[in-house]
Amino acid sequence: MSEPGLDRFSLDGRVALVTGASRGIGEAIAVELAAAGASVAALARSEDDLDATVERIESAGGEAIACPADVTDEEEVTVAFDAAEALGPVDVLVNDAGTNPFFGDARDLDIETWERILSVNLTGAFRCAAAFGRRVGEREGTGAVVNVASVGGVVGLPYQTPYVASKHAMVGMTRTLAVEWAPEIRVNALAPGYVETAFTAGVRENDSIYEDLLDEIPQDRFADPEEVAGAAVYLASDAASYTTGEVHVVDGGYAAH
Ligand SMILES: NC(=O)c1ccc[n+]([C@@H]2O[C@H](COP(=O)([O-])OP(=O)(O)OC[C@H]3O[C@@H](n4cnc5c(N)ncnc54)[C@H](OP(=O)(O)O)[C@@H]3O)[C@@H](O)[C@H]2O)c1
Repeated sequence: MSEPGLDRFSLDGRVALVTGASRGIGEAIAVELAAAGASVAALARSEDDLDATVERIESAGGEAIACPADVTDEEEVTVAFDAAEALGPVDVLVNDAGTNPFFGDARDLDIETWERILSVNLTGAFRCAAAFGRRVGEREGTGAVVNVASVGGVVGLPYQTPYVASKHAMVGMTRTLAVEWAPEIRVNALAPGYVETAFTAGVRENDSIYEDLLDEIPQDRFADPEEVAGAAVYLASDAASYTTGEVHVVDGGYAAH
């Protein structure tokens, strides 16, 4: 049992691999984990944007490296995990990489788009979780996974069927891996509501959709990415040492009614 205080939230000496770290919520999580003391391996496809995340962390006194990869590519993910280990064994995996190119009636959805969304949001996250789980197992270590799901992983969101299906499946994967990998690896999901990133630019630019959404959010606004990132630090840290298989919703009250 440790002393009361903020030390249990510290990630000093930990290594965290964050997918989707080139912008938006993943970038904010990478920066926040580094501020809490973790060395960060930043993974996404855009090398220039990853370099910017690394620079942000380093200029604040943290340690980070860029590990460019596409989460849909097994070989690239393996190379990225190997590269991340230059920082030390990876203790924390944040699965943030995601995509949502479809907004419309499910009857107009083509199967290629459905499969693309699931291959990034679900299979990509599983690929990284499995790589992480194998490596932690091989070294007989411990670790924590934070899967960035969505409020769309706990409630339905009209016109976003493949995205919501991928995030509900991610929640199922989270709960199952939590049971399977306990007690060595804790696995939790973080479920943001609507956040101001490139991801939601389309809905924010459409006045009527935007107003309708704000009517559904008790806090009457979208979140800043930083407002989501603190919960990832908590779930990755020893402050959450008895928390596994949980879905931590950060949504301004959206799913509360
Ligand atoms: N914004 C919201 O309102 C909201 C709400 C709930 C949940 N979320 C979830 O939060 C996560 C991040 O969303 P965001 O809003 O920050 O979106 P974003 O700004 O579009 O960022 C998405 C991130 O995922 C990376 N990515 C996409 N496809 C990838 C692939 N195939 N391989 C590797 N990286 C890939 C992108 O980097 P590259 O393009 O450089 O690869 C980028 O870093 C997603 O999982 C999303 O579902 C978002």
